[in-house]
Amino acid sequence: MEKQEDVALVTGASHGIGPIIARTLAEAGYRLVLTGRTARELELLTGQLNAAATPAVAIPADLTKADDLERLAKSAEAAFGRVDVLVNNAGGDPQREFDAMSWADNEAIISLNALAPIHLAHQLLPGMLQRGRGHVVNISSIAGRVSFPYAEAYAAAKDGIIGFTRVLRNDYRHRGVSASVVILGAIRDAGLGDRTAKEVGLKVPAMGTSPAIHVARAVLAAIKKDRTEIVVMPGPGRLLKAVMDLFPSLGPAMNRLAGAEKTMRTVIEFRKQQL
Ligand SMILES: NC(=O)c1ccc[n+]([C@@H]2O[C@H](COP(=O)([O-])OP(=O)(O)OC[C@H]3O[C@@H](n4cnc5c(N)ncnc54)[C@H](OP(=O)(O)O)[C@@H]3O)[C@@H](O)[C@H]2O)c1
Repeated sequence: MEKQEDVALVTGASHGIGPIIARTLAEAGYRLVLTGRTARELELLTGQLNAAATPAVAIPADLTKADDLERLAKSAEAAFGRVDVLVNNAGGDPQREFDAMSWADNEAIISLNALAPIHLAHQLLPGMLQRGRGHVVNISSIAGRVSFPYAEAYAAAKDGIIGFTRVLRNDYRHRGVSASVVILGAIRDAGLGDRTAKEVGLKVPAMGTSPAIHVARAVLAAIKKDRTEIVVMPGPGRLLKAVMDLFPSLGPAMNRLAGAEKTMRTVIEFRKQQL
């Protein structure tokens, strides 16, 4: 579904991959509601989009707070009269060991990466169903499928969102509301992985990573072509994901060989020193 005046709500639009998704949707003709916690970054982006003739508004919100999230859903619908597309992009991981984090830390990971996207979809679904059209795009990660080191709660949330998307899509597509999941491998030029490499001083080879614009194009393709799942990875990402499911021990072996285990150990030690 795509119409010139469609309205898209993009979460995690203040920095990282989100702004690139927002700009790509703007180029495709969407009006935008952008959210994140950092008002200053959101306002800078909406200002640039407005100057380039894309109607866009910033609504700062903390998605781990239910009240904030419900206020966001209402304000987003009020901004342009409706929300046609929800891009659940906000997410992330503190890059710390499961057992070294408190239970509250682990809950916060699940809350941001799984509960918030489900809650936001739940808030916006009635309006979409009333109008008989809508699309929810969830941004997930290959982390769980490849047993990415030190990502227990994050992997659970990101795998959970794949299941959520499949069921949501099946239940509401015949009523005009569809859902897609975009599953990311490592992204090289924006977002958490890129920031971490710069902070820690790691050299990440471009091979095996994708540019953020591929994520933005995948989001647009998911909506326009109503795709169930898109894997953003170099090479045959969907095939790799399927192979990982067939042979679950392959992921850890691959992580050891590719150096991901060692790299993440360095990152974990770096984060420990920051506490
Ligand atoms: N980068 C990668 O290599 C990679 C790989 C696989 C999957 N992903 C997924 O891609 C998505 C985007 O990640 P990214 O790399 O762009 O991350 P990022 O650079 O850390 O950006 C995260 C975005 O989410 C927002 N956010 C974080 N906590 C929030 C909260 N409590 N409430 C509201 N907004 C919040 C941040 O804004 P504020 O700080 O302003 O709140 C920011 O806009 C995430 O779902 C991530 O899991 C990324």
